[in-house]
Amino acid sequence: MYLPWLATASAALSFSVHALYPLNELAKTPQMGWNNWNSFGCDVDEELLISATEKIIQYGLRDAGYQYIVLDDCWSNGRSSNGTLQANTTRFPSGMAEVADRIHNEGFKFGMYSSAGTYTCARYAGSLNYEHQDAQTFAGWGVDYLKYDNCYNEGQSGNPLITYDRYKKMSDALNSTGRQILYSMCNWGEDYPWKWAQTVANSWRMSGDIYDSFNRPDARCPCTGNEEYNCALPGFHCSAMNILNKVSHYIDKGVPHAWNDLDALEVGNGGMTDDEYKTHFTMWAAVKSALLMGNDMGRLSARDLSILNNPAIIALNQDPRGTSAVRVWRYDVDDVDRYGQGEIQMWSGQLSGGDYFVALLNAGNSSREMNAMADDIFYDDGEEGTSEESTMEWTIHDLWANRMPEDVAQALIDGNSTQASSLNVTSYYFNATETSYEDGLASNNTLLLGQPVGTLSAKVMITAEVPRHGIMAYRLRLAGWGLRKRDEL
Ligand code: GLA
Repeated sequence: MYLPWLATASAALSFSVHALYPLNELAKTPQMGWNNWNSFGCDVDEELLISATEKIIQYGLRDAGYQYIVLDDCWSNGRSSNGTLQANTTRFPSGMAEVADRIHNEGFKFGMYSSAGTYTCARYAGSLNYEHQDAQTFAGWGVDYLKYDNCYNEGQSGNPLITYDRYKKMSDALNSTGRQILYSMCNWGEDYPWKWAQTVANSWRMSGDIYDSFNRPDARCPCTGNEEYNCALPGFHCSAMNILNKVSHYIDKGVPHAWNDLDALEVGNGGMTDDEYKTHFTMWAAVKSALLMGNDMGRLSARDLSILNNPAIIALNQDPRGTSAVRVWRYDVDDVDRYGQGEIQMWSGQLSGGDYFVALLNAGNSSREMNAMADDIFYDDGEEGTSEESTMEWTIHDLWANRMPEDVAQALIDGNSTQASSLNVTSYYFNATETSYEDGLASNNTLLLGQPVGTLSAKVMITAEVPRHGIMAYRLRLAGWGLRKRDEL
């Protein structure tokens, strides 16, 4: 029997458990990339993809780790007389294989979209009953990633086995192509994919579609995630807090090679404040969601770039231990906004090398002082303060303190190389093309650790002023780390 809390409790054990079921060797850490849907919808063509790749390189985001360029719905022109899927030649005049080549030549991997239904959600040809033929077509084009949607599924859903069978068909078909294709299920959490998808997919969407709002309730996204675990109707127009609250009940189901996908990011799309986007990005990273940017790269602001490229936050997501943060507590507060929403949360979790993550999240309507008690931070290591960790001394590193300054981010966006070199832009983001996050963390790269801001002493707490809809996020490292050998501690 698989006991998720055991996997959380021991890195060594979790590796032996994972070794039993990964679908493939991909997504050892959550996949990172860009998907056009949140900002462009159906308005796609090859120029959009190529210009996005160029900007992603220029802004340093490819090197920060965003590796997959994922084309979403609306690329298709139906099937030819022998049933082969065809790309729309007006939108993709070079053909998909050529587009894939160009994306590969820029140092990226290429993602594609289809649906486990008769049609895609925008009513283009779907892959249900064409799984093998379509997988061969995708592999022939040089596709490295498939986002596989759930629309028009002919009623083949409603219990986990039916949905499992339908999604496994494409999983097997992709495997039989012999090409390594990351398989990203998109069935919105229907039939509880976190219970069974680890053996068939590299990630699964766990919610209806995200909406560019921090916490606005919407009748079309009926499950709130406040108390319930089951959600009969995933819906769409789900806010960032709605999705986070839903996933909080089963964050432990994401494991190396198989992750919860909270949907593509909204950072840069204009619907949230800077603090709200920081909260959204931090928590997507901390719960090990797939990290797909969803913005228009041509309209990215310096502030938003300095969220998406924060190495200390990405390092949480790409941590080799692969353990999600856990929501330790959540309280409603009276300080509600115009939607009647107001809550506060504390999250913590273990990172590689014995470090810990802690976040104080203020979804109340005004700035407030919050605190995280040592006994709560280390609760999973021993209840009610019985853990050894809660008696130790930790250095607190603020994960947003070294955010890229605005003029530096602007120099990257402007492509002004003289200014960029005088501002030394490359010293602000981590280059994962040169050094993996795993190696960077192992060598204590300071970009990944955040800025030391204080000490958490035995049994006390972290106190911070947290802005409205904002977050304070920390890495805790044993004080004196590096001075003593680990086994002496
Ligand atoms: C569904 C998916 C979205 C997007 C659209 C495309 O709604 O959940 O992420 O792919 O379809 O039509």
